[in-house]
Amino acid sequence: MYDYGVYCKIIVIIRIIDSIIKAIKMKYPTLKNEIFVTNRRRFVEKMTSHSLAIFNSNDELPANGDQLHTFKQNADLIWLTGIEQEDSMLILFPDNPDPKYREVLVLVRPNEMKEKWDGYRLRKQQAHEISGIETIIWLDMLDGMLQPWVHLADTIYLNTNENDRKSNVLEVRDYRYAKMMRERYPLHRFERSAKILKELRSIKTPMEIEVMQKAIDITDQTFRRLLKFIKPGVMEYEIEAEIWHSFLSQRATRPAYGSIIASGDNARVLHYVENNKECKDGDLILMDFGAEYGNYCADLTRTIPVNGKFTRRQKTVYNACLHLHQYAASILKPGISIIDYTAKVGDEATVVFQKIGLLRKSDIKNEDPNNRAYTKYLYHGISHHLGIDVHDLGTRISPIKAGMVFTIEPGIYIQEEQMGIRIENNFWITKTGNKDLMKNIPITVEDIEAFMKNK
Ligand code: GLY
Ligand code: MN
Ligand code: MN
Repeated sequence: MYDYGVYCKIIVIIRIIDSIIKAIKMKYPTLKNEIFVTNRRRFVEKMTSHSLAIFNSNDELPANGDQLHTFKQNADLIWLTGIEQEDSMLILFPDNPDPKYREVLVLVRPNEMKEKWDGYRLRKQQAHEISGIETIIWLDMLDGMLQPWVHLADTIYLNTNENDRKSNVLEVRDYRYAKMMRERYPLHRFERSAKILKELRSIKTPMEIEVMQKAIDITDQTFRRLLKFIKPGVMEYEIEAEIWHSFLSQRATRPAYGSIIASGDNARVLHYVENNKECKDGDLILMDFGAEYGNYCADLTRTIPVNGKFTRRQKTVYNACLHLHQYAASILKPGISIIDYTAKVGDEATVVFQKIGLLRKSDIKNEDPNNRAYTKYLYHGISHHLGIDVHDLGTRISPIKAGMVFTIEPGIYIQEEQMGIRIENNFWITKTGNKDLMKNIPITVEDIEAFMKNK
């Protein structure tokens, strides 16, 4: 039977949900907040008793004049809350005698004038939907509330960036905050959240893999589009523009890093981002790009012939690189460390590079163990952790564990032949081996040529 009252209620609920979705400034549909609830639980389990952990947003970074760089949220805060808004904080105090304040999200109070200039800011209900956190307070109330919590705690966990590859020299917010807290509470014990996060963030939950797979699928579709688009005379920046269009129209937030679109000899420059040359008939083009979706990254590299057909020599070198890729995939499993694994791939590269005429026996016999012969043609690491950051937080020294996600990306760069080839896929480590999350993306000479022929 038709019940008008129930009908009206349903309409109202649909409108509320719709307005929440529109109001939250996300390109992608809201992720399940269970991801962040689980991540917080995993973190809290590692905290010592009577301790409190505080996490900060990144700074909004000034560019020139009155401009700011596009805001990028702190990766740890994203991992714990899913909140992308500036000036947000998370406070975890599992032993707080008042259960209401064991988990607190701090947000900037929405301000009518700011919203007229910069757009919508999160309301408490929406922030709750995104993060799964019940207690949300405004930043202007925090000071008075935090002090008694700190007095009840013996230990304060603070965060800094412990990514081994970090190169930032700016004193960013986490470091200023740590300094201020140490001055304000000199008799408390301080601990590093990063030590815990390094272990936890590197092990991905199946829910996180689902989001990463979506970033990978968007990247896959984009590569297929490029196979149809590329031909002699196309400019590298036109390819980059195709990538932006394809990513954004598939609800990716942005490219996960500056796309490297390197034709011919440009491919030997590992971080080539000028992308300003014409793609020439007979050259190869190396494309290293990946979508960021729901704050998780994909990281793909493919090297293809501009005219759709590999020369005999290009095919030989490509297949040598593909062999190294497959060899690396066969040994990337729990137990081995990234350092030992890289050395093994180096051993295999030494054999392969002789076969394709790059190294002689004498080069190897006299090689310096700290500067091995193969590194003349392969001068970067083979794998890195991948997740919220493209070079994600995680160890290179301890044994690999199930749940980690790595790239595999061997390359061969030959100055004498003005040629550079790299092949990169993303792998999820299982109990006994790994799963190639990019297994659907064309990779063999035959597949690439076939796709380019059938434009
Ligand atoms: N795209 C950066 C890298 O492959 O590590
Ligand atoms: Mn890459
Ligand atoms: Mn990579």
